[in-house]
Amino acid sequence: MTVDDRFAEFREQQAEREDLGTWNEIVTGPVSDWATDFSHTEPEYAQRAIEIWADLPERCPIARTERFGGAWLPTRYEDVQAIAYDTEHFSSRAIIAGNYRPPLDIAPVGGEPPISSDPPFHHDARKLLLPAFTKANVAKQAVTTEAFCHSLIDGFAGRDVVDAATEYGMHIPIRVIADMLGFPAEDSDRFKHFVEDALEGINTPLEEREAQPDQLFDYLLAQIQDHLDNPREDLTTYLLNAELYGQKLEPQHVAGTMALLLIAGIDTTWSAIGASLWHLAQHPEDRRRMVEEPAVRATAVEEFLRAYAPVTMARLVKEDIAFGGVEMKAEDWVLLPFPAANRDPERFERADEVLIDREVNRHAAFGLGIHRCVGSHLARMELRIALDVWMDRIPDFELADPAAVRWSTGQIRGPRSLPLRLR
Ligand code: HEM
Repeated sequence: MTVDDRFAEFREQQAEREDLGTWNEIVTGPVSDWATDFSHTEPEYAQRAIEIWADLPERCPIARTERFGGAWLPTRYEDVQAIAYDTEHFSSRAIIAGNYRPPLDIAPVGGEPPISSDPPFHHDARKLLLPAFTKANVAKQAVTTEAFCHSLIDGFAGRDVVDAATEYGMHIPIRVIADMLGFPAEDSDRFKHFVEDALEGINTPLEEREAQPDQLFDYLLAQIQDHLDNPREDLTTYLLNAELYGQKLEPQHVAGTMALLLIAGIDTTWSAIGASLWHLAQHPEDRRRMVEEPAVRATAVEEFLRAYAPVTMARLVKEDIAFGGVEMKAEDWVLLPFPAANRDPERFERADEVLIDREVNRHAAFGLGIHRCVGSHLARMELRIALDVWMDRIPDFELADPAAVRWSTGQIRGPRSLPLRLR
């Protein structure tokens, strides 16, 4: 059987698969009490998450909701850290909390290795990816990333107001990951939809939710076929040639990891760039320092990552367990809000202030434990260059209309509409 047949067979099996996961009724609508009925998919959470996290530790050990078939929301650093490290009791079988839970036997590999994998498989799947994301390797993308950021700003010529979320931040990680995977740059719009479906569309009906991965996998398999027909040096070819336990990766593993890389790097970095510009738009003193003391930019990037950390991940409880003063049941979701942990006053001095020259800053924006972000060097490179180019070219700017700023709902938090007036 040729490699191409293996992928064709995988696609057929996927199309015919009978999904044995579980599905809960969709519950939407305003939250009655954030301690007992939280929902990370409501617009109020998008707008007020920071206040909600700050209030919860006073009110309950760990917040609870009956939505999504039952979920928990710890907000203290200590609890988030303990759960992230405890792979014995908390599984990564699914990391986006919603109404759908995949079948139990999908563990320990999961649909998108390594983020969906548990030990011991996780270690091997992660190790495969590390060489592609070393500091030295991602540095190779720096020159083209910088040129791309300049080209986006060139496009603003003559305009007073631009949307820094949709006309700047969003395009940067899309272009970088498309280049790395060897996908056509003109497919960018499709990537945006794949990301929205996976991360924000979690309260959609089951039939719709089930169809979403099909569109993504059809796209990925077309790219895989193109790479098999026209081999070239990029991340897709690397994955197609990679071996585990003396054999080429299973088609499902290749496609799942490609899906992960496409999705993990876009919304996250887009959110980090947007949140940093949102902050700077409202703080003239920080803008001035970024321009007059370029050395502060390095600590500023880390502080923006701490204060506006975009990523919350989820786990599924493996067996009933008493944890942190609450009784968790098997198959409950647990959200790991790394952004809330980053604002815990027990862990950080002046936790609720954004200090762009903060020296000691061991934040958890890239996660904690075995799943810590593989793409952190890439994300930092993109964020640093995006802000460098913006500040060099547009040193003075402000929110054009504070009421028009819209933050995303769901587990990845960042501005999705950010009109800025350029001065
Ligand atoms: C500012 C941008 C980013 C942030 C804040 C971020 C954050 C995170 C976090 C919190 C995790 C841990 C997940 C967990 O515990 O379940 C994670 C994992 C991961 N991230 Fe990122 N990420 C960013 C950008 C990227 C980029 C650009 C890529 C690569 C294209 C990437 C690839 C990954 C991968 C592959 C994992 C899974 C690692 C594993 O399971 O061992 N991320 N990221």
